[in-house]
Amino acid sequence: MSKTTAAITAVGAYVPEFVLSNKILETMVDTNDEWITSRTGIKERRILKDADKGTSYLAIKAAQNLIDKSGIDPAEIDLLIMATATPDLPVAATGVYVASQIGAVNAFAYDLQAACSSFLYGMSTAAAYIESGRYKKVLVIGADKMSSIIDYTDRTTCIIFGDGAGAALFEPNEEGLGLQDEILRSDGAGREFLKISAGGSLIPATAQTVADKQHYVFQDGKTVFKFAVTNMADVSAKIMERNNLSNEDVNWLVPHQANRRIIDATSSRMGIDDSKVLMNIHRYGNTTSATLPLLLSDFEKQFKKGDNLIFASFGGGFTWGSIYLKWAYNS
Ligand code: UT7
Repeated sequence: MSKTTAAITAVGAYVPEFVLSNKILETMVDTNDEWITSRTGIKERRILKDADKGTSYLAIKAAQNLIDKSGIDPAEIDLLIMATATPDLPVAATGVYVASQIGAVNAFAYDLQAACSSFLYGMSTAAAYIESGRYKKVLVIGADKMSSIIDYTDRTTCIIFGDGAGAALFEPNEEGLGLQDEILRSDGAGREFLKISAGGSLIPATAQTVADKQHYVFQDGKTVFKFAVTNMADVSAKIMERNNLSNEDVNWLVPHQANRRIIDATSSRMGIDDSKVLMNIHRYGNTTSATLPLLLSDFEKQFKKGDNLIFASFGGGFTWGSIYLKWAYNS
C-alpha cells in the first residue's frame, strides 16, 4: 500500500495597492535607494493603508484568490491554519474570523505564530494532519500587516518590511508527491535580538510602554543576519544531503525573503544556480509569514509536476527550518 503524502494542490495571494518605494522612504528617514538596494535587495514594498483593516483583510483576499482560481468549495475545508505574527486582535484568533468570512463553514481554525517561519511550520502541521488521515483539506494562509508594528522613524527596520498574504491548500496524494522531508529548529536565545518588547504578558501595555515605543519591532540586524546566514544554509544543505539530492536534482529554492544577501549565501552553500532561486524581495520586501506563499503564487506557472522544491526560512525566536516538497501539478 502506498503511503499518503500531503501535496499542495492550489495557491493564491494578495498584496495591497499602495507601493512604498525606496524613493518615498528617502523622504521619511535618513536613508537612500543605493544603501537599501545594496544591503537588502529591496526596491519597494506594499502597505495596507486603510486604518480599519487588519491582517484578516489580506488573508481573506489571498484565500479568495485561491478559491476563485481552483474552484474548490470552501465548505469542504477541514482546517484553516493562519500563520501570522500580526493577528487582528491579541485574543480571538484571526484564522477563526477568516474561515467564517471565506465560507469555510465546516472548518476549525487557529493561529500559528513562529515569526518569519510561521508559514513553514504551518506546512509541517498541515502535512502531519493529512498524512495521519485525520483531515483531507487543510488551508494554510501566511499573512502579515507588518506596517502595524513598524516604527516609520526607525531606518533600521522600516526599510525592510511590507504587508502581504499568500495561501496554499494541502490535500492527500497517492503518487508520492508533496511534502517529503523537513528539518525544523528553534532557539530561545534568539528572543533578545528580534522582538516586540511590550504588549504581552511579560510587559503589558501601559502609557509608558507606548511612550517608549516598545510596541514596535526591535531588531539587532547584524546578529540576526549572522544567525540567519548560517542556520538557513545549514538546514538547506542538510536536507539535500539526507535525501541524496544533488544541486541538479533541485528545481527550485523557495527561500524566506528577508535579505538578498542571506538568500545568496544559502543558494551558494547549496550549489544552486541563480536561475533556480525564487526571488521577489525587490517588489515586496520582507512580508514575514507571507514570503513563501507569495513566491509560490508568483512562480506557480513555472513549476512542473514532480519538480523538487526546497523551502527555507529563518525568523525571530529564533525559528528556522527547511522543507523538501515535490510539486504536484502543472498550471
Ligand atoms: O526575517 C526575519 C529575520 N531578519 C533578518 O534576517 C534580517 C537580518 N539582518 C539584515 O538583513 C541586515 O542586518 C540589515 C539589512 C537589517 C542591516 O544591514 P547591515 O549590513 O547589517 O547594516 P548595519 O546594521 O551593520 O549598519 C551599517 C551602517 C550603520 O552605520 P555605521 O554605524 O556603519 O556608521 C547604520 O547606522 O548602515 C547604517 N544604516 C543605514 N544607512 C542608511 C542602518 N540602516 C540604514 C538605512 N539607510 N536604512
